[in-house]
Amino acid sequence: MAGAAANAALTPGRLRLGVNIDHVATIRNARGGDHPDPVRAAEIVAAVGGDGITAHLREDRRHIRDEDLARIQAATDLPLNLEMAATEEMLEIALRHRPHAACIVPERREERTTEGGLDAAGQHNRLAPIVARLSDAGIRVSLFIAPEARQIEAAIRLGAPVVELHTGEYAHATGETRAIELKRIADMAALAARNGIEPHAGHGLTYENVQPVAAIPQLAELNIGHYLIGEAIFVGLENAVRRMRDLMDEAR
Ligand code: PXP
Repeated sequence: MAGAAANAALTPGRLRLGVNIDHVATIRNARGGDHPDPVRAAEIVAAVGGDGITAHLREDRRHIRDEDLARIQAATDLPLNLEMAATEEMLEIALRHRPHAACIVPERREERTTEGGLDAAGQHNRLAPIVARLSDAGIRVSLFIAPEARQIEAAIRLGAPVVELHTGEYAHATGETRAIELKRIADMAALAARNGIEPHAGHGLTYENVQPVAAIPQLAELNIGHYLIGEAIFVGLENAVRRMRDLMDEAR
């Protein structure tokens, strides 16, 4: 869909919820057919007031497939946030589909999920042309990074308008460590915002751990997938998204 229409869907000041629908496709692919269809999930997310659809086209196509992208874009007016590795293949696909946003993620074939943040600091020269070509095409670039000052500084040097802070360490931590991880996210959201970068966050967020993150005032968007799709098995996707939305609103 057109970028302008996607931008119109964004309400400034509100903590947006982007729903990652990858794992609907994981279940579909387990049997090789076309059910359950991630497009139907995207339609439900739109109907229930989600703010965006996030989908990761992996190199191995383990969940979302190439043809899903255009179908998702055609099915809803919600902005599409395409998660992608920094490769020529993915760049070419992004330029063809022109999603509202592209979130550059690290990708290792053998990992179960995106386990760490992108090393924006160590890969400046590789990332710079990709960020520039996506930006020139009007695609809003986000870098999925660990909540570390050196990665924010790298995002500034790369001219990325958005960073998504990896909340995995926070989500997996307990007790005092969780408080330390939460503070890192809050401090890095503030650092990004002070430098004109819009901070988002995501990974491993659940009903139980979302509220302290949602309460961080600089954060503009959370991207949540696995837990919501898992909950949807028990309560339906509408109810799962509604409950997450209510918890986020309550925390603000
Ligand atoms: N944000 C990014 C950049 C991701 O890669 C992912 C999925 O790996 C998520 C958010 C969602 O994480 P989860 O599925 O754990 O909610």
